[in-house]
Amino acid sequence: MNILVINGPNLNMLGIREPDIYGNSDYNCLCDMIKNKAENLNVSVEIFQSNHEGYLVDKIQEAFGKIDGIIINPGAFTHTSIAIADALDAVKIPYVEVHISDVSKREKFRQISFIRNSALKTIMGRGLEGYTDALEFLVKENCK
Ligand code: DQA
Repeated sequence: MNILVINGPNLNMLGIREPDIYGNSDYNCLCDMIKNKAENLNVSVEIFQSNHEGYLVDKIQEAFGKIDGIIINPGAFTHTSIAIADALDAVKIPYVEVHISDVSKREKFRQISFIRNSALKTIMGRGLEGYTDALEFLVKENCK
């Protein structure tokens, strides 16, 4: 099974950005956690981060025909990007929406998600473990 993890803007600033909300671990730490979990689950994983909406759309399109499941945290683009939602609908790859913080308990503008409707599942407020939860979930779904 091939899984792609996509992170949007400012997630490369983990450990520096608002540690009270996003924690003290940095982006490399997140990548290591994901890689370790993928190894344990015996699946192959690629991790991608960009601050640019179009690059995220390109990455989703490139996954077509190659990737079995996507884990995506589009960062602030969650609340604004119809282009990312359209790309996910276009490739029809099952995906999990992940947010480190519990966006349902934050500002009103963070309650909107353009990608939630088509997501298999949304995980929020679990910190970095949300990503490893999502990996486990996708692997179980794939075995059904
Ligand atoms: C986030 C929540 C978003 O509202 C925010 O813009 C982010 C990170 C999260 O992981 O909690 O950049 O997606």
